[in-house]
Amino acid sequence: MSKKQLYIETLGCAMNTRDSEHIIAELSSKENYELCDDPKMADLIMINTCSVRQKPVDKLFSEIGVFNKLKKKGAKIGVCGCTASHLGDEIFKRAPNVNFVLGARNVSKVSKAVKTEKFIDVDINYDESTYVFGEYRNSLYKAYINISIGCDKSCTYCIVPHTRGEEISIPPELIVAEAKKAVKSGAKEIFLLGQNVNNYGRRFSQKRASKIDFSDLLDMVSEIDGVDRIRFTSPHPLHMDDKFLNTFAKNRKICKSMHMPLQSGSTKILEAMKRGYSKEWFLDRALKLRDMIPEVSISTDIIVGFPGESDKDFDDTMDVLNRVKFEQIFSFKFSPRPLTAASKFENVVDDRVASQRLKILQSRQDEILDEIAKSRQNKIYDVYFEELRAGNFVAGRTDNNALVQVEGSEELLGRTCKVKITNPKRLTLYGQIVQ
Ligand code: 5AD
Ligand code: SF4
Repeated sequence: MSKKQLYIETLGCAMNTRDSEHIIAELSSKENYELCDDPKMADLIMINTCSVRQKPVDKLFSEIGVFNKLKKKGAKIGVCGCTASHLGDEIFKRAPNVNFVLGARNVSKVSKAVKTEKFIDVDINYDESTYVFGEYRNSLYKAYINISIGCDKSCTYCIVPHTRGEEISIPPELIVAEAKKAVKSGAKEIFLLGQNVNNYGRRFSQKRASKIDFSDLLDMVSEIDGVDRIRFTSPHPLHMDDKFLNTFAKNRKICKSMHMPLQSGSTKILEAMKRGYSKEWFLDRALKLRDMIPEVSISTDIIVGFPGESDKDFDDTMDVLNRVKFEQIFSFKFSPRPLTAASKFENVVDDRVASQRLKILQSRQDEILDEIAKSRQNKIYDVYFEELRAGNFVAGRTDNNALVQVEGSEELLGRTCKVKITNPKRLTLYGQIVQ
């Protein structure tokens, strides 16, 4: 029987990327689907949505309209992910041509959803932590593995606890088993995923006799033969205790790049955001990391224009930017989200002021990136190659997560080579293989 075609569009974070892999695995192993890259050919079009800011939510309904016009007769449309969780059956009301709505925590029901007329499940506390998904990975070389689902924090700007529910940790045996499976099929890099990875172990989906935290889990995964590199996202600055920093520094398989979502450099704004740490704590942790591991790279997320942010608060954010010198930042204007405390806060920052601050922040960051790029000229790095790029280039990453491209072809994929940087740019270091 010829296979049915699945087209899937994935927005948002790494968690969504992994959820899409789970969906593809479920539909190909149980429902005779295969992935295609043309929505016009698809029997099923799925949109895996993000709701962290308003923009992607606004885009969703216009996208559904476009897909509805170009799709084959009889093809279905499914909406899943975080916007599905938070809008629920409002999606059917606004877009009656949608066939099913599946929340960010209900991926395992996709098989049922495709066989049911108008299926919806957006239960944010459904337990998928021990569910065994089929095998599908976007990359042969890097394996994403969920270690926890949901989020227990209550950052006042964030919709995620309302879309992904309570945090539960996946038992370490399942994580290790998945990592071993991935290694057997060729992956050398394991990428551990969770909303709050270094909070791992606080609540297991099954009662456990021995206590285990994120540092212990990192050590367990690193003991697997064939795992060369371990990455993870996202850790929370609040839980960066000394044990965690020491494990990170000492374990040679853990890649030396850390994501430290700052959000704001002002202790007053951090309190209003309910982040649980101060400017001083953040600086102490980041500078300690730089001290312990000179080659470490640190990336961050920053929100400007949070309610009540004064010029002085913004100066504090700039101060942290200038002192830590992040290798990468993701920066956003505050976007009020439904269901969140901050959406009701007063002292809203004027949009023009927020835009201006974002511009100042990003142009200073560009200068920092230029300095960092320059300092990498002629350096030699171990690069693990993962992806073909246009124009006969192959892309890979250094241990500390810098993107490197060299001229070459397939035979480099899955290999680690020494590369000399000959043309460092802000976002990509171009180089030549020296060994
Ligand atoms: N407005 C702007 N940015 C936000 N983020 C999360 N919620 C909001 C919001 N309401 C950003 C944070 C987070 C990243 C994934 O998205 O910086 O770390
Ligand atoms: Fe990921 Fe958060 Fe966006 Fe959901 S809302 S896709 S958890 S970034």
